[in-house]
Amino acid sequence: MEHKKRTSFPKDFLWGSASAAYQIEGAWDADGKGPSVWDEYVRIPGTTYKGTNGDVAVDHYHRYKEDVKLMADAGLKAYRFSIAWSRIFPKGKGEVNEAGLKFYDDLIDELLKYDIEPLVTIYHWDIPQALFDEYGGWESREVIQDFTNYAVTLFKRYGDRVKYWVSLNEQNIFVGMGYGQALHPPKVSDPKRMYAVNHIANLANASVIKAFHAVCPDGKIGPSFAYTPHYPIDTDPKNVQAADDAEELNSYFWMDVYAYGRYPSAVWKYLEEQNIAPTIEDGDMELLRAGTPDFMGVNYYQSATVAYNPLDGVGMSNEMNTTGKKGTSKETGVPGVYKKVVNPFVKTTNWDWTIDPKGLQIALRRINSRYQLPILITENGLGEFDKLEDGQIHDDYRIDYLASHVTAIRDAISDGVTMLGYCTWSFTDLLSWLNGYQKRYGFVYVDRDVSDDAPMTRIPKKSFYWYKKVIETNGEEL
Ligand code: BG6
Repeated sequence: MEHKKRTSFPKDFLWGSASAAYQIEGAWDADGKGPSVWDEYVRIPGTTYKGTNGDVAVDHYHRYKEDVKLMADAGLKAYRFSIAWSRIFPKGKGEVNEAGLKFYDDLIDELLKYDIEPLVTIYHWDIPQALFDEYGGWESREVIQDFTNYAVTLFKRYGDRVKYWVSLNEQNIFVGMGYGQALHPPKVSDPKRMYAVNHIANLANASVIKAFHAVCPDGKIGPSFAYTPHYPIDTDPKNVQAADDAEELNSYFWMDVYAYGRYPSAVWKYLEEQNIAPTIEDGDMELLRAGTPDFMGVNYYQSATVAYNPLDGVGMSNEMNTTGKKGTSKETGVPGVYKKVVNPFVKTTNWDWTIDPKGLQIALRRINSRYQLPILITENGLGEFDKLEDGQIHDDYRIDYLASHVTAIRDAISDGVTMLGYCTWSFTDLLSWLNGYQKRYGFVYVDRDVSDDAPMTRIPKKSFYWYKKVIETNGEEL
């Protein structure tokens, strides 16, 4: 829709940035922290770009005051960060580690000192290794109780100061990459196990949301879903059908469960036919319906375009462009459902991610129509090579990317979508899980690359000053 006059951003709109513990903190074994599955996974040769890992990351654990000061300088209204489960419970359960709790106490207090709203992600992919060793982590229903106990510990400790919570970050990605494409821990490729894990993660998510509403009735909680809206390549009905199927299989299969506590019937039937549907036990669907969120968290980076793919067509690829060499991604698809194709109308990044701000508006509209939930954008950003020139980073490409996406959010608001806030990914540069430190996302450059032995100096980029202006003008000046 085009509007004669576009609606302004709400006055209390949360202009923020986001991060995740493993990607910034470092201090991987400090002050009683136990290892997570990522601490172990990165040590397997060949799993990450040039063997990079988060042992030191960008040393946020020791420099959080400097980082929060920079956030205050940028005028951030909100900061989304995740808590490392194994800092709080080194073995995932049992004895709590006071030093771990204290680190996040201090971080939250530091943010509040500058009136920055803390948005806490409970789980951003780093399940304690001890739980994996004991019962296979997300493969066992035992994780539901342990995850809930961990979350309730956080609610009780920080609930007086933290109003917004994210339950699971990108369940669709950590389940898909961990048990489908074998690119994340535990490096498994088995669809039956993948859907079983996913159902358990759904139950854990609902259990935590249900507990949150009992412990913190005034707070707000939701999952962060990695939403990639799908388009058909053209108007050939079989391609339109492929796009609908891709949307059901990749998007509604998660979001319907979050919002309504039910699986979409077409996908369920498809999983049963393939003999890969998860086991539903007594009480499961009741729990899913009892743990619905207050908002939908959305991580938006790109759209995807698809076409019909016959039963003997192309399958999933477990090879990704992790080098930044444009055009090295492989063709992928789901036989009998869809295959990904090139969209001639959108450009791509050096990592072959499409750049499609209109896709964000489309995503927000679809979520709004289907679920009628407020939306918090929990991630959006551009991963690129940045060059330090005369002590400065002129990242105009990042400004263009972000400005066009902020415009898309405003368009969605003008269309009637309720938006709570916008967190860019990310504030400082950080570790991109499989792509090392050279794929940068931040407003603040961190002087490090492959080697941990680097100065880690923080340098605000041109986009830092741009975002400051955006926040000051509540999105009027882009
Ligand atoms: C999301 C994750 O998938 O996208 C982040 O929540 C991640 O943790 C971000 O860093 C960008 O992905 P990547 O692979 O480029 O780091």
